[in-house]
Amino acid sequence: MAFFHRRSKREVQIDMARLPRHIAIIMDGNGRWAKRRGLPRKAGHAVGAETFRTVATFAKELGLDYLTVYAFSTENWKRPEDEISSIMALLEKYLHEAIETMAKDRVKMAFFGDLSLLDPKLQALCHETERISRTYDGCQVNICLNYGGRDELLRAAQAFAADCVEGRADPGHLTQAAFSNYLFSAGVPDPDLVIRPSGEVRISNFLLWQSAYSEYYFTDVLWPDFSKKELLRAIADYQGRSRRYGGV
Ligand code: IPE
Ligand code: IPE
Ligand code: MG
Repeated sequence: MAFFHRRSKREVQIDMARLPRHIAIIMDGNGRWAKRRGLPRKAGHAVGAETFRTVATFAKELGLDYLTVYAFSTENWKRPEDEISSIMALLEKYLHEAIETMAKDRVKMAFFGDLSLLDPKLQALCHETERISRTYDGCQVNICLNYGGRDELLRAAQAFAADCVEGRADPGHLTQAAFSNYLFSAGVPDPDLVIRPSGEVRISNFLLWQSAYSEYYFTDVLWPDFSKKELLRAIADYQGRSRRYGGV
């Protein structure tokens, strides 16, 4: 299928029969986007939140099964307090709006990360959106909030050890599939494609276990400038690759 965009001369071709089932995105570059315009970093986060809305809606329209986005890492607490509170305020605003519209869209929302460090009001909103959308069958959008891949693995190890102590699990019989169920992403298939905008070529503690065989796509475009067309470009690139999983 070819998608045409009003302002672009060339369309991006993707094969709708071979869509990745699960796309994960590191939403990076908001600060630099704002800096280039002489704006405060929080202005970049505000535009980045709009980009997230556009991309999540498009993912649903395309028919992706899962979209996972990195919104706030376990390391992002190192940032100035007013930047953190502006990101949290944007999340709160987004979740209020999602609650209004999610019945129509049938989008299922989930959160990966330790929510207990968030403001209680925001925690309650996260739980509320998860509860409302639990039975929805549209695209599942996972928002990684206070998420870190190492933190996730450590928690999984702790939970598994606790199950062993209680006699509910046996260290000698732990499989990869069983261990996956201790992760925040339990039940969600691994991402087929991980996209990182902003020009950084690193993983920054994102989905360390789950991305073992994901395809990576890096682009210099900053997240606030990311668009439907950029997503199509990433999908087209992904569709040109040969996934061998260690085979031939
Ligand atoms: C991503 O944009 C948003 C978060 C990490 C919360 P940044 O704020 O990291 O933007 P840059 O990387 O400084 O441009
Ligand atoms: C990764 O971006 C985290 C999110 C996008 C939420 P960062 O901007 O925090 O990552 P580094 O510092 O460039 O590795
Ligand atoms: Mg960054």
